[in-house]
Amino acid sequence: MSKVLLIGAGGVGSVVAHKISQTPETFTSLVIASRTVARCEKIKAQIQARRPFPIETAQVDADHADQVARLIALHKPKLVINTALPYQDLSIMDACLEMGVDYLDTANYEPPDVAKFEYKWQWDYQARFRERGLMALLGCGFDPGVTNIFCAHAQKHHFDEIHYVDIVDCNAGNHGYPFATNFNPEINIREITAKGRYWENGDWVETEPMAMHKPFDAVELGRMEIYLMYHEELESLCKNLQGLKRIRFWMSFSENYLTHLRVLENVGMTSIEPITFQGQQIVPLQFLKAMLPDPASLGPRTKGKTNIGCFIEGIKDGTPKKVHVYNVCDHEEAYRETDNQAISYTTGVPAFIGAKLMLEGKWRGQGVFNVEEMDPDPFMAELMVRGLPWVETVDSDS
Ligand SMILES: NC(=O)c1ccc[n+]([C@@H]2O[C@H](COP(=O)([O-])OP(=O)(O)OC[C@H]3O[C@@H](n4cnc5c(N)ncnc54)[C@H](OP(=O)(O)O)[C@@H]3O)[C@@H](O)[C@H]2O)c1
Repeated sequence: MSKVLLIGAGGVGSVVAHKISQTPETFTSLVIASRTVARCEKIKAQIQARRPFPIETAQVDADHADQVARLIALHKPKLVINTALPYQDLSIMDACLEMGVDYLDTANYEPPDVAKFEYKWQWDYQARFRERGLMALLGCGFDPGVTNIFCAHAQKHHFDEIHYVDIVDCNAGNHGYPFATNFNPEINIREITAKGRYWENGDWVETEPMAMHKPFDAVELGRMEIYLMYHEELESLCKNLQGLKRIRFWMSFSENYLTHLRVLENVGMTSIEPITFQGQQIVPLQFLKAMLPDPASLGPRTKGKTNIGCFIEGIKDGTPKKVHVYNVCDHEEAYRETDNQAISYTTGVPAFIGAKLMLEGKWRGQGVFNVEEMDPDPFMAELMVRGLPWVETVDSDS
């Protein structure tokens, strides 16, 4: 029975809060804290219109570890779930260390002034979390998150060695706007406009942004064009999978989305370099974010499905084997259950499951962990019953 502090009241935080409120056997109460307290209040009201559950709200600027530490001291949670932005990861981890509380997030740290994300900054907390006897679970969304766990499941149950992994993230959702991003526009656009990168035979191979692409037939979605991108789970999986020769990440985009993005990029609207406008410093990408639809507002409008999964090839008992593990999620069903579309849902449900397993003692450890380092079985079982059932196809030469 545990109280949890949830920081960040966007689409992902909202789904985590909904799922927690459905699970009183593990979670006793919830504090939702964010920069704009009105968003916490809105989530609280949406949940309490559906079911009674004890929820408090609070204002916090999580860029400041001392503010987070004060909140922890006041509410004494068993766990802090970070669904704010990657910029806040380190300050929230600092506060957890100071106050002796476990930590969970869905996206790795990214400095606000450099469009670069990597685990190094958070892996550097390893010794401090271990010495304090605390657990930090990193990247527990869908990708990263479930995709890592699909790989861990394949490694445990299907392969002696995994040689090739292709992670494929397809979204056929239609929200009716000419252009909008499905999660935080700033983080999303920084990710997409970066160079592509994949890991092969021990080295990183770099490509121009969106230069490698191919058609792909996604189960239940149909034909989509998928683009090779760098994605953060590649960094931990290339260390944690045995015998790996190559790992890549692909994401689907419509031609309409890419045309809008190209225009915005060409006129400088995706830049993170500050400019002076009418005597004020503004960051073009942050201004663009203010102009675009709030991802949380896409929920009631979005129709269609997502399909995210892993194609894994390797060897079992000397015989080549191929496994495809994936989940299909319906935007409208996700909205009916949690007032959020499938992108927030597919991220928030795994964060909730990770929190549940940590609080129930099924996932424990001292130090900083990526999810594939944990036993995949209890997580795979929870996915089946918490709204993200998975399908597996196995193709073996034996
Ligand atoms: N692993 C995955 O599969 C995956 C997929 C999608 C997203 N994500 C990650 O999930 C996280 C949340 O995404 P989202 O779509 O829910 O984003 P979002 O809608 O932009 O919500 C972010 C929330 O964090 C709050 N926030 C921002 N800065 C803050 C600060 N300094 N102090 C306190 N709160 C702050 C925002 O407050 P305001 O309302 O005041 O702006 C907002 O409520 C992001 O880190 C994203 O990268 C992971």
